[in-house]
Amino acid sequence: MTDKIHIFDTTLRDGEQAPGFSMDGGQKLRMARALAELGVDILEAGFAVASPGDFEAVQTIAREISGPVICSLARCNVGDIRAAGDAIAPAKNARIHVFIATSPLHREYKLKMSKDQVIERAVAAITQALEYTDNVEFSAEDAIRTERDYLKTVVEAAIAAGATTINIPDTVGYTTPEEITDLFRFLTTEVEGADKAVFSAHCHDDLGLAVANSLAAVRGGARQIECALNGIGERAGNCALEEVAMALRTRNDFFGMDTNINAKKINIASKMLASITGNPVARNKAIVGANAFAHESGIHQHGMLANRETYEIMKPEDIGLEKDNLVLGKHSGRAALKHRAEKLGFSLSDNQLQSVFVDFKNLADKKKEVFDADVEALILGEAIGASGPWEIDSLYVSAGSDGQNQPEATIRLCHADGRKRSMVKQASGPVNAVLLSINELTGHDLHLDSFSARSVTEGEDAMAEANIRVSANGESYHGRGTSTDTILATARAYLDVSNRIERKAKRLGKSNVKSQQKIAAQL
Ligand code: KIV
Ligand code: ZN
Repeated sequence: MTDKIHIFDTTLRDGEQAPGFSMDGGQKLRMARALAELGVDILEAGFAVASPGDFEAVQTIAREISGPVICSLARCNVGDIRAAGDAIAPAKNARIHVFIATSPLHREYKLKMSKDQVIERAVAAITQALEYTDNVEFSAEDAIRTERDYLKTVVEAAIAAGATTINIPDTVGYTTPEEITDLFRFLTTEVEGADKAVFSAHCHDDLGLAVANSLAAVRGGARQIECALNGIGERAGNCALEEVAMALRTRNDFFGMDTNINAKKINIASKMLASITGNPVARNKAIVGANAFAHESGIHQHGMLANRETYEIMKPEDIGLEKDNLVLGKHSGRAALKHRAEKLGFSLSDNQLQSVFVDFKNLADKKKEVFDADVEALILGEAIGASGPWEIDSLYVSAGSDGQNQPEATIRLCHADGRKRSMVKQASGPVNAVLLSINELTGHDLHLDSFSARSVTEGEDAMAEANIRVSANGESYHGRGTSTDTILATARAYLDVSNRIERKAKRLGKSNVKSQQKIAAQL
């Protein structure tokens, strides 16, 4: 019989806390839905005490998402555990994840605590967490650099106190496969009460070994892997969920283990995360990179034609990269679009289908053929963000250099409350002219930090996706926009941020834009 490895997903906690990956509450909820569909066993929804926004996000996910166990992180102190316990309360199955550092460096310089004090604090935290749920995970932060005998004592105390999962993090990404196998073998065989807990690995990728180390921990007795989609996380990231899940599945003959991950949902979940955070995965990234299933060289193509297995250890369909030959165009109807969306792994509600269909028709008017990537971009746009209150009514730019005229933007915006505003602005470049105009029209003081645009498909009528990073009141925001016109895609991405700031502020019932920005940034 194949043993199951529990997949503990930390995309929304360790992943989200990395610079450039922050998500607002709505985005976290959408991602949590995708992770639940993906089949993760435990979903770490956030660090409830970190901010009111984090608390609300964990609580909303606990209320709305069924399937996985919903978990919040907490340090070993009363306030953290109370916040985590309150936030996860609405969940059917909930877990509190408490952690404290155990290594000499952390004890001496960060915590300024003795070995005994660390154990006392851990036991008190587990005891308090058990008042909220009987599903308590304990992490010994920087476990890999902790003295073995002491780590064993800490783990024994944690199990005796009632922790049912023991996590052994490689917080700084320092270990090697052989070392971590040995450590897990030691702990799972030598710790008193080891049979009462599931042992878990949490590996960071500083040396590029997170996936290898997590698999090696399994060889040593780990039965839970903590990981994040696309490998996001602190510094170089966490163990990549899609890689570890596909490794266990593809090499089931070697590991004899599997997971509950529905691999066909990997492609969508990965793309959704990239779209929401504005961080596309590298082309050559294992499993989810654009080249992961591309066979360009003549020798490889020859082999593939003779027998796919010559160069392919997994099929693109395994991760949901389903292709069919149907090309959509302006005469395609709703049923064809729905069918294509389903083939791509999306299940759209009637409202979503209607909204995507309108965008699809507009796109099909501009393009001869609409490809899978176009459909994906439209659906992701619909799935990852609500629109408004501002919308672009019209936009026209002139650009280039003739030595006399400056690039110029003529733009008209309309607001859901009925306001219509327009302006003409010249600047050093067309993008600059558009963004400065939007700032003046919306009254938001946004500063562009970075901007990238790429074509989603090939050909001269390809659709462009623009991703921008903007700061306002010292906080960083990501915006995304698509169009067959790159400048329009960029304007939409910029307006996406303004809209997010206004929607959040509206929820908080504030009218002043400056204070709205400040509050939205704190969430
Ligand atoms: O890397 C780490 O040690 C962590 C813990 C909080 C589990 O993320
Ligand atoms: Zn971590």
